Amino acid sequence: MTITTRYAVVGNPIAHSRSPFIHHAFAEQCGIALVYERLLAPKDGFAATISDFFAAGGKGLNITVPFKEEAFALCESRLSLRARIAGAVNTLWMEEDGLHGCNSDGLGLVNDIMRLGFAPEGKRILMVGAGGAARGCLLPLLQAGCHSLHVVNRTASRAEDLVTEFLQHCPEYRTQLSAGSLDSATGNWDIVINATSASLGAERIALPTLGFTPQSLAYDMMYGKQPTAFMLDAAQQGASVQADGLGMLVGQAAVSFEIWHGMLPRTEDVLDQLRHAL
Ligand code: ATR
Repeated sequence: MTITTRYAVVGNPIAHSRSPFIHHAFAEQCGIALVYERLLAPKDGFAATISDFFAAGGKGLNITVPFKEEAFALCESRLSLRARIAGAVNTLWMEEDGLHGCNSDGLGLVNDIMRLGFAPEGKRILMVGAGGAARGCLLPLLQAGCHSLHVVNRTASRAEDLVTEFLQHCPEYRTQLSAGSLDSATGNWDIVINATSASLGAERIALPTLGFTPQSLAYDMMYGKQPTAFMLDAAQQGASVQADGLGMLVGQAAVSFEIWHGMLPRTEDVLDQLRHAL
């Protein structure tokens, strides 16, 4: 008798999630038999949903909106450093001592930036936004060896608080990491990342004209059929390459897959297929 291992993504809503498609494609590529489903958890029933899943023999869960902070809390002390700093968990698995959590979003972003030919090592990076999406990416970008990382936000105090809190965990990055208002985004950037939710509403961000180096990347964590307003502005201002966050979606799934299965899958084919289906 073959026992098929079960995985799922939990959220509310969840019907839109592309994670089952991505994980089945990775599993096929790596020769692993698994079933990966969507699980709709009631807003007040997240803990029960995941404990039922693992009690029934499930092996691993991805967590999406609005449950990443609740997943973080349920892991108590069994958290990776990336998850602790992000304050949010998107990858869960069960061990003998309980539920473990990690956050694969930031590493997914870094891997996607590398796929685009912009290894962060030695780069001057501007991060626009200081919410959860930005928070989860600070450590992987710094660990990848960037020269500097400046976080700017519409509400400047939020960027300053984010950086202060981060440096309490990782004081060794004090010289690379800084924060300020949108107006402080002057200078020359190798990589500019939009981690705001402005693209969701097709809003423009009140940034000064950005200075891009001759080999530079503008990366929007949002994605869609058309380039975002941020990508179009960056193209006009001289960014050599503009990318949206579809690759980050696939990249974070690849990192979760590696946590569960010990193999990091290739992302290009899956990314092409998702792009065509948009
Ligand atoms: P998430 O968890 O997705 O990061 P969030 O915590 O609500 O979401 O953060 C949204 C981010 O987008 C914030 O940095 C927000 O700026 P403020 O902190 O000043 O609100 C930013 N944001 C949203 N709309 C924006 C806009 N039109 N211009 C600039 N920044 C915007």
